[in-house]
Amino acid sequence: MVEEETNSRVPYFHIPVLLNEAIDALQVKTGQTYIDATLGGGSYSQEIIKRGGNVLAIDLDPRAVEKSQISIEPNLKAVQGNYKDLTEITHSNGIQTVSGIVYDLGLSSDQLQNPALGLSFNSNDPLDMRLDQSLGVTAADLVNGMTEEELVHIFEKYGEEMYAKKIARVIVSQRLKRPIKTTGQLTNLISKAVPARGNIHPATRVFQALRIVVNDALGNLESSLNQAMGLLMPGGRLVVVSFHSLEDAIVKALSERSDVSVVGAVIRPSFKEVADNPRSRSAKLRTYEKKSVSKK
Ligand SMILES: C[S@@+](CC[C@H](N)C(=O)[O-])C[C@H]1O[C@@H](n2cnc3c(N)ncnc32)[C@H](O)[C@@H]1O
Repeated sequence: MVEEETNSRVPYFHIPVLLNEAIDALQVKTGQTYIDATLGGGSYSQEIIKRGGNVLAIDLDPRAVEKSQISIEPNLKAVQGNYKDLTEITHSNGIQTVSGIVYDLGLSSDQLQNPALGLSFNSNDPLDMRLDQSLGVTAADLVNGMTEEELVHIFEKYGEEMYAKKIARVIVSQRLKRPIKTTGQLTNLISKAVPARGNIHPATRVFQALRIVVNDALGNLESSLNQAMGLLMPGGRLVVVSFHSLEDAIVKALSERSDVSVVGAVIRPSFKEVADNPRSRSAKLRTYEKKSVSKK
């Protein structure tokens, strides 16, 4: 667990998932440069540095970047930015190619508990969900502004929610009486409308769908992974840890590219890791290697 103080003395924390497996897969070489495209609590970056690498780390969340700057790692350059701008960020930091790039998708534990982001169905905060506050549209804008059909579409497509129609209908009838402005309002509506399913909270899939749309999470990932392939030197590794099937499908599609080889099988967390950190249960790690340019 990473727990450090920021300037504002608010702890930033995240329990890393598949940490050793991901950094083993990168095959870090001393003195080489790596990109950690999702800095978060910094455990992946720290592990790369521990194994002799230099790191350019990126995160949308200014708190993650601020925290890592306080730890003052000489071999770490952390920048706030969106990994959809991966090539531009890398080049503007004076780097043309790298030996490896790692993505650990999703949210940090810190973000889930940050009331300002409104990402958790376990609290009652403004329904925002923007990881980057410069984005124009919040989750509340979508919930109160989309048509019933549009809501059904995003809940089905990005949440794979089987009760999408029922939930959309309840949202539309409720918002006529009072706009849905908080995570608590939305969670209550969903909990009343649909049954609980196993250990999964009934609001999980709708919250996932809204977060994906608000942040264009899948579009950013697809664009970024393609840029990553252009930045890797021959033999360089791309390692991605994903947490749901829509992300994983985008990662898996890289295997169709002619310039990469798939390395090993998909890695899943051990029983022990899942028992210690239930959030890891859906994680999948895929590794690719950039092919050497063939000599004619
Ligand atoms: C699961 S956390 C990473 C945890 C990290 N590996 C660690 O060891 O602490 C995912 C991070 O990705 C960041 N993120 C999500 N979308 C992003 C994007 N489009 N560009 C850059 N960072 C992004 C989030 O802000 C979050 O901090």
